[in-house]
Parts: sequence; C-alpha cells; structure tokens
Amino acid sequence: MVSHYSVLKNEVLNFFEKRETNNKYIVDATLGGGGHSEAILEKFPDVKIIGIDKDNYALSYAKERLRKFQDRVIFVKSPFKDIDEVLKDLTIEKVGGIIFDFGVSHFQLRLPRGFSFQREEPLDMRMDTSQDLDAYYVVNYYQEWQLEKILKEYGEEKFAKKIAKEIIKRRQKDKIETTKQLADIVCSVYPPKLRHRKIHPATKTFQAIRIEVNNELEEIEIAIRKSIELLDKGGILQAISFHSLEDRIVKNLFKDAKKLKKIEILTKKPITPTKEEINENPPSRSAKLRVAKRI
Ligand SMILES: C[S@@+](CC[C@H](N)C(=O)[O-])C[C@H]1O[C@@H](n2cnc3c(N)ncnc32)[C@H](O)[C@@H]1O
Repeated sequence: MVSHYSVLKNEVLNFFEKRETNNKYIVDATLGGGGHSEAILEKFPDVKIIGIDKDNYALSYAKERLRKFQDRVIFVKSPFKDIDEVLKDLTIEKVGGIIFDFGVSHFQLRLPRGFSFQREEPLDMRMDTSQDLDAYYVVNYYQEWQLEKILKEYGEEKFAKKIAKEIIKRRQKDKIETTKQLADIVCSVYPPKLRHRKIHPATKTFQAIRIEVNNELEEIEIAIRKSIELLDKGGILQAISFHSLEDRIVKNLFKDAKKLKKIEILTKKPITPTKEEINENPPSRSAKLRVAKRI
C-alpha cells in the first residue's frame, strides 16, 4: 500500500495539548492514511478518535494502520460536511477536538484515480467513488461558460476562457477520455514561453476540476461552521489548508466566530511547515494550519 506523510504533525499534537476540557473525543474529519490519528492516539492515551473519510480506500488503509488502537477508534464513511449527523448517530453531543487536513492524500494521487496529470489515466477525480459526478462528466458535458467559471473561480486560471473554448472544440470530435489528453489541451492553449515552467500549466485546471467534482469548498464551509458548534468549551479546532481558496474560508469563518465570542483564535498567522519538513516532504510547502479554541 502507498503511505501518506502527515503534515505539521508535531504542531497539531502541541495544539491538542492546549485542550481545556475533559471531553475525550477527537474527530479526525479527514482520516486519510490515519497518520494524524495514529500520532494523536499515541500521544494522548485516553483519547477516542472518530475518524471520517469519504474515500473507502482511505478508510480501509487507516483501519489496518490503526489496528492496535481499534478499541479507541470509530471509523465512519461520510462527507465531513455531515459531521453533525455522524456524531448524532453515535449519540455524541460534543467533542474535545476536531482536525481537518484538506485535499487529497499521496495515495489518492498515486492510485489510478485521475487526480494526476503526470500519467495517462481515466478522468475520474472522485474521492468518493460511489458518487455520480466525475471529471469525465465535467470535462465532456459541462457548458463552456460553466467550465470557464470553475477554471476561473476554483483554479484562479488566467487562461480560463481559452481553455474552456479549446475543451469544447476538441470534444466535438471525440470525447476527452484521459488525464493526459486534458493536460495536453491545457498546454496547447498556454503561450509557448509559459509551457515549461516549474509549475505545470495543467496544475490549476486539475485543481479546479477536482474541487468541482468533490464539492470541496462548499463542504469545507459547512463543516467548519458546524464544527465550531460541536466543540465543548475549551475544545480545539484545527484546519490545514493547501491553497488560498481553502485557507480564506477557514480564516473568514474563524474571524466571524471570534466576533461572536464563540472562539479564541490561537494562530494570529497560520502555522507553516519548517524548512526541515519541507525538505523531507516537499508537497507540505503550501500547508497552512489555523487553530481555534472554543470559548
Ligand atoms: C490530506 S488527506 C488526510 C491525511 C491524514 N491526515 C493523514 O495524516 O494520513 C485528506 C483526506 O480527506 C478526505 N477528504 C477530503 N475531503 C473530504 C470530505 N469533504 N469529506 C470526507 N473526507 C474528505 C480525502 O479522501 C483524504 O483521504
């Protein structure tokens, strides 16, 4: 199995140490490879984890990894936007901590699930493989204005209009089937001098389509709002973002909740990985951790 390197692990543990509640439940809302959960279970022997993920592969991977803690973990397949329903089903009213580590994990990127433009794979990009909407549908059936809108809004892609137009043109002949075909279309639209930069031209397009397929931003907004309400007084909420769209949502919701005197913000500026962590795990370079305490 492919493993996952957990970002800002020590920082996350240190912030959970600041809990001021006897509530022993911590929700890992993005269980993934179970790395953060494992570290939490090791460091805090009395904690029980509710581990949520919408990806079955993540859940089975984490179950295996956390086997020795099985009495202290409840695994739930769910979108994290339903965190309140998940807790209600377990008859848990409030929790002492919640962590979000957004985005996809290394193993999702490396499995042939269409998240990566480095290989030729079917256009999929679903975290939850039981849902209907996938990248193939977005690319082959969305209207031009819809494609342009998501590329602009979710990819902050300055060539959104041209890329959308080119996708429509190409798919009139044959359906666009693979990640590589899509990446090549994006490259063909980019001015030649911008095609060979460090960041691949298709990066933003793939980010945008992934966000659309998985309804990522809306789910983050709903889940953070609910999480603030689900914390016991003195409970800690942590959120790790990987791009500005995610981080902005967390930052603004924290600001609003602070105004309403629901939380104290423990990170005036977001925490970012050390140079050592970035050297060891380069994708961590874009991570930003924001933390709040329920009051
Ligand atoms: C970056 S990984 C988490 C890695 C984990 N913290 C670790 O240390 O191994 C993010 C995980 O969250 C899951 N995920 C992302 N968005 C989700 C959502 N809206 N609902 C449920 N799970 C989600 C993904 O399927 C993925 O497994």
